[in-house]
Amino acid sequence: MMSKKRFDWAQRLKKLPPYLFAEIDKEKKYLKSKGIDFIDLSIGDPDILAPIEVVNTLSNAARLKPNQKYALDQGKFEFRKTIKNWFKDRFAVGLDENKEILPLIGSKEGLVHLPLGFVDSGDYVIIPSPGYPGYRGAALFAGAGVYEMPLLEKNNFLPDLEKIPRSVRNRAKIIYLNYPNNPTTVLAPVDFLKKLVSFASKYGIIIAYDNAYSELYFNHKPKSILEIKGAKEVSIEFHSLSKTFCMTGFRVGWACGNKELVETLLKVKTNIDSGIFGAIQDAASFALEKENHYANNLRKTIKERRDIFVKGLMAKGYKDIFAESTFYVWVRIPQKYRSAIDFSKTLLTKRIVAAPGRGFGKWGEGFVRFALTVDKRILEKAIDLL
Ligand SMILES: Cc1ncc(COP(=O)(O)O)c(C=O)c1O
Repeated sequence: MMSKKRFDWAQRLKKLPPYLFAEIDKEKKYLKSKGIDFIDLSIGDPDILAPIEVVNTLSNAARLKPNQKYALDQGKFEFRKTIKNWFKDRFAVGLDENKEILPLIGSKEGLVHLPLGFVDSGDYVIIPSPGYPGYRGAALFAGAGVYEMPLLEKNNFLPDLEKIPRSVRNRAKIIYLNYPNNPTTVLAPVDFLKKLVSFASKYGIIIAYDNAYSELYFNHKPKSILEIKGAKEVSIEFHSLSKTFCMTGFRVGWACGNKELVETLLKVKTNIDSGIFGAIQDAASFALEKENHYANNLRKTIKERRDIFVKGLMAKGYKDIFAESTFYVWVRIPQKYRSAIDFSKTLLTKRIVAAPGRGFGKWGEGFVRFALTVDKRILEKAIDLL
């Protein structure tokens, strides 16, 4: 489609790395076109429906005239107030609903727009590797240099902040971090979060803490960075209803934390979008206020799937399996394969689609990510095929 290239791409788009899932996507399309069945464990989009009462709230709210008009850029007061209450209950952190909370069109929207408010060319953005691919695009679109910070198994997939070169630290504006972590599934211990806050404070770096999976845990409740002393001076945290309530398609989340950071993100957004559909905000408020039991059930379902899948992998001889939180399983590829892509291609011949670790950054090489977003019976079938 792009062969003639009548319209040359801007440099910022040219700088984006090749899309590593492209070959996998091509193969998926091919299998679909031939009517061949396959098990798709590659995408982090839950198969489970959003709470029905949330859908009903959305449907009723869509009929209301004020919701059919432009929404406030800052989001509805009632929604911000609900977020404030939810945050207080969940993390015991107080937030000012007028200055420290900003509703978003999904957390990705805010994560990606943030650097536009703070980064000039010549600055650095530090991204975790492996990590959610959105951070890299965000940095490159803002003209930043990207420093890929390794998350290594030997460090429990936490970054070694001391290894970030001085030249990068001194020119870095933002450091992205995400725990519970996609794709490695690990949580961040409090000691690490404390170190992170003191590192960021010392070098004047903004912590963009991606907490999209805060409710998808099994044993230990994940923390908010804002629970750490001094964090509010330097941090903005991102939350999402996508995973907690299986509302990926609704596009709703929020940013919260330092008021200057929140205010700047709002300024960027005001120049780009015109608020979130009011009915979606009403539905999101309902979810946060009334659907706490939903996350409990979701955790039970995912835990059951995880236990089946991990047990199956172990029985098949897989080693180095990580499944501490989220709905992913991060696994080292068997030794005989040259690369994660190579292994993923072999899985495709067995009609299983998984995400090669290299797609999450260079330090993801050697691993593959399975998303447990299908029913347990299908997972059992996948294990048989592996
Ligand atoms: C780590 C992480 N952050 C953010 C997002 C974006 O979520 P959303 O924009 O749906 O809130 C995702 C989606 O998969 C993710 O994995």
